[in-house]
Amino acid sequence: MRRVLVINGPNLGRLGSREPEVYGTTTHADLARACEAAARELGLSAEVRQTDSETELVGWIHEAIDGRLPLVINPAAFSHYSYALRDALAMRTAPVIEVHISNPAARESFRHHSVVSAVADGTIAGLGLQSYELALQAIARLTGPA
Ligand code: DQA
Repeated sequence: MRRVLVINGPNLGRLGSREPEVYGTTTHADLARACEAAARELGLSAEVRQTDSETELVGWIHEAIDGRLPLVINPAAFSHYSYALRDALAMRTAPVIEVHISNPAARESFRHHSVVSAVADGTIAGLGLQSYELALQAIARLTGPA
């Protein structure tokens, strides 16, 4: 089965209790289980990770690049200012989909720009857990049969 990394940035480990009116009540563990199940349906094997560290995210992006693994990434707040993540993603060797649980375009102005979007194949935002499910569908389409 084709592997796909699903990587989540800072504060997403607090899903469930973090601003539930914005991010819902689904926990990160729930999100991981839902992604793994959605991926299986698509013939993919999803590995879901979360970190609050920019360094660790860059390391995981390098791992995906070296392994030619497709990536679903929610860079969280790093979306808006991390040139380090942007530069790492620019080296990608397989499809990359950026996801957001909320719709940053409908929120504070500092969230309106993502420095990562230009180096992703596409961005899916505002659909909660479904953002990840649609991103996995896009990865399945973009990568074709394993
Ligand atoms: C987020 C949106 C970002 O603006 C925010 O900093 C996050 C989560 C989302 O999934 O909606 O941490 O990426």
